Amino acid sequence: EKIVVGVDIGGTTIKVGICDTNGELLHTYEGPTETEKGSDAVCDNIAAYARLIVEESPYSWDQVEGVGIGIAGFIDIPNGIIKFSPNLHFRDVHLKTFLEDKLQKKVLINNDANVAALGEAWAGAGRDIMQCVCFTLGTGVGGGIIINGRIVEGYAGVAGELGHMSIVPDLEAIQCGCGKMGCLETVSSATGIIRMAKDAVERGDRTSLSFVENITAKDVIDAAKAGDEVASRIVTRAAYYLGKALSTVAVVLNPQRFIIGGGVSHAGEFLFEQIREVFIKSTPEIIAEGVEIVPAILGNNAGVVGAAGLIIRS
Ligand code: BGC
Ligand code: NA
Ligand code: ZN
Repeated sequence: EKIVVGVDIGGTTIKVGICDTNGELLHTYEGPTETEKGSDAVCDNIAAYARLIVEESPYSWDQVEGVGIGIAGFIDIPNGIIKFSPNLHFRDVHLKTFLEDKLQKKVLINNDANVAALGEAWAGAGRDIMQCVCFTLGTGVGGGIIINGRIVEGYAGVAGELGHMSIVPDLEAIQCGCGKMGCLETVSSATGIIRMAKDAVERGDRTSLSFVENITAKDVIDAAKAGDEVASRIVTRAAYYLGKALSTVAVVLNPQRFIIGGGVSHAGEFLFEQIREVFIKSTPEIIAEGVEIVPAILGNNAGVVGAAGLIIRS
């Protein structure tokens, strides 16, 4: 029996999973990324965790068909080079050659959100369809485009960087981690929501958030649900630009379904209703008709399942 190892590299944890060839997740393991120790240490950790999970499972290393990796940032996919990952402080890291050498297995690397989208398309909220576009709302805003069941990679491997859609009007725009102004990520990520909340508190706006220490995106969403006007305005702004972004993607690609995951998506219908409203208002009826906007269902596992999917599905 063949198995596949999927690895999801986040800013704080590296999640590893063993999948069978149908996308069934059999085992998971998590260890610290240790970004602060530099990219060499992170690469060593990836290799170590991949070995460890198989050692601790009933499977043997010989059964491993390959190792798939999802990692945030701009990636030269064919060569498996992380060109730039702002959140991980990676620049030109040759991850594929390093891991192939260490693990003696086929290694495929792709963007974290592309991989999450593949996971959802393979075994999650998109398993019944061939076209979908995913957004992940976390530290950043990630995007993944699946057409005919495959990830759209683009000319340089950076298609689907939907979080860097330049969408906030110049007068209100702030700078993104990518260096440009007004990206979707600056308003619709957890980081963006937290920043807007802190700004409001500092400005002296009347809000229950001024009594919260270390505000999280969940605090802001909970306050909004409880009727806090300042928090509501922030969530509505995040939803507004998401709705606009979905509309833009819809006119370009006409996907059947948008799948939205990541921590912020746990806000649930409260957020989704607002996104749908803006989407419908902004999109020509014939294009908007029938388009579904739904939450991701694999949650935290989308990354490892999709990463394993890189090996099985390509
Ligand atoms: C990065 C993407 C990534 C997303 C989610 C963005 O800032 O540019 O590559 O997919 O964050 O992690
Ligand atoms: Na992407
Ligand atoms: Zn950006």
